[in-house]
Amino acid sequence: MNKEATTLFPINDLAKKRWSPRAFMSTPVEREKIISLFEAARWSASGGNEQPWRYIIGIHPDETWQKIFSTLLEGNQEWNKTVPVLIISIGNKISTWDGNISPYFQYDVGQSVAHLILEAVHQGLHTHQMGGFSPEKARTLFDIPETFQALTVIAVGYQGDPDTLPEKLKQRELQDRTRKELRELVFSEKFGNTAAL
Ligand SMILES: Cc1cc2nc3c(=O)[nH]c(=O)nc-3n(C[C@H](O)[C@H](O)[C@H](O)COP(=O)(O)O)c2cc1C
Repeated sequence: MNKEATTLFPINDLAKKRWSPRAFMSTPVEREKIISLFEAARWSASGGNEQPWRYIIGIHPDETWQKIFSTLLEGNQEWNKTVPVLIISIGNKISTWDGNISPYFQYDVGQSVAHLILEAVHQGLHTHQMGGFSPEKARTLFDIPETFQALTVIAVGYQGDPDTLPEKLKQRELQDRTRKELRELVFSEKFGNTAAL
């Protein structure tokens, strides 16, 4: 199944091909590919080069995978059973510049995850980010310090067959992808005033 973005203007192939499936094959992901994902994540930009991102990886069926899976909300557990790799993204809340909460830590981790995800596309993999998990349970299970915050879980693997999903999720898998129009997003002169591009 092909769910490439139907863009109105040309964009790069990686962004065009990225999308978030729920059907994943249980086929293991090659070790070199997994390392490349984190290498791409490592080279992301960050405020003051703080590099606040940390990751915990579980590879099915290891104990870390089981623990990450157990943090997922029921609706996400439903389709994650066959996902071979689960990753928790975590941010260091504290800026090393002044010891205060960094205004950028979530922005920086999100950007690092975006690098990871586009590298996954480059490696022929698919990913699906999830906010539907318990950061508190992750903190307990993995001894995450108070100064760090678990932000998302990322499913990584090879795209599977939508027919393997429960009917409701299969319908969602087959739905068209939608986006706001550029005119709703890009302004000039003042906020809300569409830029004449
Ligand atoms: C921060 C974040 C949290 C998300 N949480 C969930 C989630 O808990 N469960 C889920 O099925 N999808 C989740 N998604 C996936 C989005 O629904 C998906 O990215 C969006 O619908 C756009 O679809 P696309 O990624 O295929 O372009 C999340 C995505 C992001 C970026």
